[in-house]
Amino acid sequence: MTAQTELRPAVVVVGGSRGIGKAIAEVAVRDGAAIVLVARSPDGLAAAAADMLKAGGEAFSVALDLLAGDAARQLESFLSANGLFCDVLVNSAGYGLRGSATLLPVADQLGIVDLNMRALTDLTLRFLPGMVARGRGGVINLGSVASFTPGPYMALYYASKGFVRSFSEALHQELHRTGVTVTCVAPGPVSTEFLERSGANRAALFKVLPKVDSHYVAECAWRGFKSGRRLVIPGVSAKLAILVAALLPSAVLLPLIGRLQRRSNDPCPCGSGKTYKTCHGARQRNMDRVVSKRG
Ligand SMILES: NC(=O)c1ccc[n+]([C@@H]2O[C@H](COP(=O)([O-])OP(=O)(O)OC[C@H]3O[C@@H](n4cnc5c(N)ncnc54)[C@H](OP(=O)(O)O)[C@@H]3O)[C@@H](O)[C@H]2O)c1
Repeated sequence: MTAQTELRPAVVVVGGSRGIGKAIAEVAVRDGAAIVLVARSPDGLAAAAADMLKAGGEAFSVALDLLAGDAARQLESFLSANGLFCDVLVNSAGYGLRGSATLLPVADQLGIVDLNMRALTDLTLRFLPGMVARGRGGVINLGSVASFTPGPYMALYYASKGFVRSFSEALHQELHRTGVTVTCVAPGPVSTEFLERSGANRAALFKVLPKVDSHYVAECAWRGFKSGRRLVIPGVSAKLAILVAALLPSAVLLPLIGRLQRRSNDPCPCGSGKTYKTCHGARQRNMDRVVSKRG
């Protein structure tokens, strides 16, 4: 086996085939780092790796489903087989689902727990000890403004991001003065496939909040990580959203988020099989008007 000293540093971007992960990889490649992209789709990975090569970088890709129990071990094997070690880990793979927690498929919601929390934790804890031993590198974990409040009708997603932020900020403190940084990045809505796939873009909240570009988030994330920041909140609108969440009492904030995240034609959580509108009359019509005006 190759001795540790002969291995080369790599920036490992989990969820690097598109969206925020790919944008962070593009920034890291500019710094001259070797990039290892991880995602499920071989086609998406090949396209992203080709873009890194075009930019003059060195890119490897590993097709892995992080929901498979041994994915982190497979990633470790890939790195050592290619003479690399994980110098910087970017945990950007994640998904969310909009809808009532009592009606969304349980397996899909447990997938959020497994990907956004378990896989992120496994990778972080697997690679951090080596970073601490070398006294360099670190982890960028993708949180969200959703980490600052519970989120009715996206309950599992918000809870998972609360975990990511708490875990990352605690690690940042534990690793103070080790030369290793753990940074949590907490963007508001970002223009990526995430919004369509999660169904979030059909909710009034995501119409009201301005969307930022993934490249802007990536620049903020990389700069913040490099300067040892614990938390990076890209953009004024995300900072304002967090301030509002901090100022409003939960008794006001949670009904407001609930109103802004459900649609009146969503199935009612009461389990009657009727839509929310049929069950609750006109209570939601104003929110629907916001969606149709802006959508
Ligand atoms: N977009 C936003 O509005 C927003 C806002 C705040 C925070 N965030 C967070 O930022 C992170 C990145 O989001 P994004 O907007 O870039 O999402 P995205 O465009 O949907 O990209 C998600 C990435 O994760 C990969 N992935 C998904 N499931 C995977 C699995 N089981 N195993 C391995 N890779 C997997 C995807 O590739 P494959 O599908 O090929 O696997 C893709 O590369 C997420 O954690 C998200 O929660 C997003």
